[in-house]
Amino acid sequence: MTVYHTPVLFDKSLEFLVTDSNGIYFDGTLGFGGHSSGILNSLSADGLLISTDVDQDAFSFSQKKFSEEKRVKLYNMNFSQIDIIAKIESIPLFTGIFADLGVSSFQLDTAESGFSYRNNAQLDLRMDKSKVINAADVVNSYSEEDLANIIFQYGEEKNSRKIAKVICEIRREKKIQTTLDLSNIITEITPKRYHTKTLSRVFQALRIYVNDELNTLKLFLKKSIDLLKPEGRLVILSYHSLEDRIVKETFKYETLDCICPLGSPICNCEKVPRLKIITKKPVVPDNKEIEDNFRSRSAKLRAAERI
Ligand SMILES: C[S@@+](CC[C@H](N)C(=O)[O-])C[C@H]1O[C@@H](n2cnc3c(N)ncnc32)[C@H](O)[C@@H]1O
Repeated sequence: MTVYHTPVLFDKSLEFLVTDSNGIYFDGTLGFGGHSSGILNSLSADGLLISTDVDQDAFSFSQKKFSEEKRVKLYNMNFSQIDIIAKIESIPLFTGIFADLGVSSFQLDTAESGFSYRNNAQLDLRMDKSKVINAADVVNSYSEEDLANIIFQYGEEKNSRKIAKVICEIRREKKIQTTLDLSNIITEITPKRYHTKTLSRVFQALRIYVNDELNTLKLFLKKSIDLLKPEGRLVILSYHSLEDRIVKETFKYETLDCICPLGSPICNCEKVPRLKIITKKPVVPDNKEIEDNFRSRSAKLRAAERI
C-alpha cells in the first residue's frame, strides 16, 4: 500500500487534543487524513470532525478515504477561514482545534507538485493553485532587494543578497522556470557542504512567501482562540523556527492578564487572559519516531487550553 504521509507525534497530538469524545473538532491540515483518522477513532457516534486542506490532491484523496464516514465534514479551504467554515456548519465553538503545519510527504515527493528542489518540476510552490502568484513569478519579476529580503526573512539565509544578485543576473539571459533552474543557480554559488541547507532555506522562503504562510498562521491562531470552548484545546505542530515562534508568542500573549507599559501606576489595559499553556516546553518526537520517519525530526508540538 502506498504511504502518502506518516502522521507526526500522532499519539501525543490526540492525547492533548481530544478531551471529550462527544465534542466537535477542527483539523485545519487534513492532508492524507492521518491525524483526522485518529481524531475520529477517539470520538463517539455523537462526535463531529470538520477538516480542511487547501491542497486539491490531499482533499480529493481524503474525500474518498472518508466517503463512508458520517462524523466528518471536509472542506477544500484555507484553515484561516475557520470562522467561515464554523458559520456554514452552524458551530458556535469547537472542543478542540488542531493544525499540523507545512507540507505533506506526498507534496514533497511528487515531482509535479514542485515543492522540493530534489525533483525537477515547474517552479510553483503554491499549495492552493488558485493563488495568483507562484514562485517562478517571484523569482523572475521581483526586484533584487525584494528577493533578498524574502530569502533572508523567510529562509533565514545569510547569503540572501548574493543569491538574489545572481538570480537577477541569470534571469536577464533566460527565464528561471523550473526547480532545477533555481537549484542549479544556488548550487553554483554555494560551497558543496552547504548545498542541502541553502537549497532548503531558499525553497522554504519562497514557499512561505507564495502561500503567505506566516500571516495565515497568525490569523488562524487568533480566530481559533475566538472559536474555542472553555477548556477546549488548541494543538499545533510546527516544523521550523519561524512558525514555532509565532505559536509560542501567540500562546504567551494570550496568557497575559496585563499588557500595560512597564512602570504604569495602575492597569487600564483590560487585557483578559484567554489561554493556559499545557506544554511548558514543546513536545518533540523521540529517537524511535525520528528513525522511522526522518521528516518528523524538526517537529514541535505546542498545546494550550482555552480559559
Ligand atoms: C503536514 S501535512 C498534514 C498531514 C496530516 N496531518 C496527515 O496526517 O495526513 C500539512 C497539510 O496542510 C495543508 N495546509 C498547509 N497550510 C494550509 C492552510 N493554510 N490551510 C489549509 N491547509 C493547509 C497542506 O496542503 C498539507 O496537506
